[in-house]
Amino acid sequence: MLLTNLTAIVTGGCSGLGHATAIALREAGAKVSLFDLNEEQGAKRVEELGKDKTLFTKVDVRDEAQVQAAIDATTDTFGAISLVVNCAGIAPAKRLLDREANPAPLGDFQTTIDINLVGSFNVARLVAATMAKQSPINDEGERGLIINTASVAGYEGQIGQTAYAASKGGIIGLTLPMARDLAPLGIRVNTIAPGVMGTPMLLAMPEKVQEALSANVQFPKRLGLPEEFGKLVVHMANNTYLNGETIRLDGGLRMPPK
Ligand SMILES: NC(=O)c1ccc[n+]([C@@H]2O[C@H](COP(=O)([O-])OP(=O)(O)OC[C@H]3O[C@@H](n4cnc5c(N)ncnc54)[C@H](O)[C@@H]3O)[C@@H](O)[C@H]2O)c1
Repeated sequence: MLLTNLTAIVTGGCSGLGHATAIALREAGAKVSLFDLNEEQGAKRVEELGKDKTLFTKVDVRDEAQVQAAIDATTDTFGAISLVVNCAGIAPAKRLLDREANPAPLGDFQTTIDINLVGSFNVARLVAATMAKQSPINDEGERGLIINTASVAGYEGQIGQTAYAASKGGIIGLTLPMARDLAPLGIRVNTIAPGVMGTPMLLAMPEKVQEALSANVQFPKRLGLPEEFGKLVVHMANNTYLNGETIRLDGGLRMPPK
């Protein structure tokens, strides 16, 4: 898929990996539609990425009506949608039992699953329904691409990450069946599983936690750059043979048990 003049939705597009993705897509010539909760950042991103080629809509990815309205606003403004990148997410940490052996609140677990897993599924299914009605964009019959964001925690969750790891394991699990469901329509589905990336989500954690998280990166021995995530998104779009796959982007990191 050549990105020039195509339209891409980026959820969580106002910060971190989503923001870097929006920049990479704009540089590749795409128009971007940002779905995020952060209106203040949204206005800034529209200025930064170019008013005529960028749209921001305040959307909670869990909300069916809000997502559908934002998809409709995107097609009304820019026409057909060819790519969606699901970056909206949260990363809370809580041990299963606290120091007094009280169980973790069920609601916290449910919120993480709802935003990271159900939210990604919600956006994917509604965008896929729109893509299905569009004409193919090339001779191979390609109609679109859905990229989800998992995490290495989906494979090796750390202490306190039961909810986060479960949400990201769910993303990895749905990648292949979603690709199989959508293959007859020429819609591909891939997932990126980042390691430790230098975004506001990670930089908000205490320095000690950041050091512990990045201690096991092999090479290059540093946090991943958000633009390295953006580059992989562009590659996934350009390389039509990449489908149904989850790619780790982690400098060879394998999280140890502690
Ligand atoms: N930073 C890392 O090291 C890292 C590693 C692995 C995976 N990830 C995943 O990458 C994705 C992006 O993370 P990031 O580091 O860029 O985080 P970030 O906090 O910088 O950005 C997340 C964005 O998502 C938005 N968002 C949160 N809940 C939302 C909702 N319900 N509806 C719409 N938007 C919502 C926020 O407003 C924010 O703009 C997340 O899914 C995260 O789990 C990040």
